[in-house]
Amino acid sequence: MSVMRIGHVALKVMDMAAAVKHYEKVVGMIKTMEDKHGNVYLKCWDEWDKYSVILQPSDQAGMDHVAYKVRQDADLDALQSKIQAYGIKTVMLAEGSLPSTGRMLQFHLPSGHEMRLYAMKEYVGTEVGTTNPDPWPDSIHGAGAHWLDHVLLMCELNPETGTNHVADNTKFMCEVLEFYLVEQVVVGPNGAIQAASWLTRTNTPHDIAFVGGPRAGFHHASFFLDSWHDVLKAADVMAKSKTKIDVAPTRHGITRGETIYFFDPSGNRNETFAGLGYLAQPDRPVTTWTEDKLWTGIFYHTGDAVPSFTEVYT
Ligand SMILES: [Fe+2]
Repeated sequence: MSVMRIGHVALKVMDMAAAVKHYEKVVGMIKTMEDKHGNVYLKCWDEWDKYSVILQPSDQAGMDHVAYKVRQDADLDALQSKIQAYGIKTVMLAEGSLPSTGRMLQFHLPSGHEMRLYAMKEYVGTEVGTTNPDPWPDSIHGAGAHWLDHVLLMCELNPETGTNHVADNTKFMCEVLEFYLVEQVVVGPNGAIQAASWLTRTNTPHDIAFVGGPRAGFHHASFFLDSWHDVLKAADVMAKSKTKIDVAPTRHGITRGETIYFFDPSGNRNETFAGLGYLAQPDRPVTTWTEDKLWTGIFYHTGDAVPSFTEVYT
């Protein structure tokens, strides 16, 4: 019971100046640091640790790694033993491997995605502080996202070869990292194939999600907003800034989230996401979506298939 929540996502970007402008002006983040390698670190106004997004200069888009914060440093040793006993290799990266961050336990999910766990990151405080705070800061800008909420990772799924990294990741996350399954999509005869899963450690509907596709990749990083009105305003910000919108404001059946999808200048998909949806609990029965209602689960109002939504990713 030691993983607390998502800590950060490291994204590869091809034009750093354009990427920083996007995450600052559109998402509404604050640049907090830049390292000697040219990586840029940002946080949202309602986050208290030093960063939740790392932008890494690269010649291609995509996710470098996703990191989750554990409660205390000793948890990393316990989790290292547990992960290795499961048959997954780990490396303990020394404190300072990332600036302002303690040691990190690095490993790869069965899908191949790099995940890291850490216990310490420099505390800098939220923009409203902790003593008699205002509900929002005067410095709020862009979509004014509160925090990095979750990532969705695409995992190889090929029933013909028996490859199902959605199911493999889900099993690992539940058995080893003690996430719990909240929602799933099942396909194929008798719904025998778990084609997507939503998992949580907090009490929101998901802290991570896995969706099956032809290859592993990064689908999106999502940032939390307060309300449906904030989702509308975020779309206004995107229209005003000529940000490429992928899916205009709508609601998911899965998680009940109110959402917009859009792209950063390198083509990494982002989401702004509002609404708790429901209170996720370890004993809440798992919600299952069947193959015939897959698109209703994704886009609740129309239920229409939008193939680019699941086929385009970095
Ligand atoms: Fe999402």
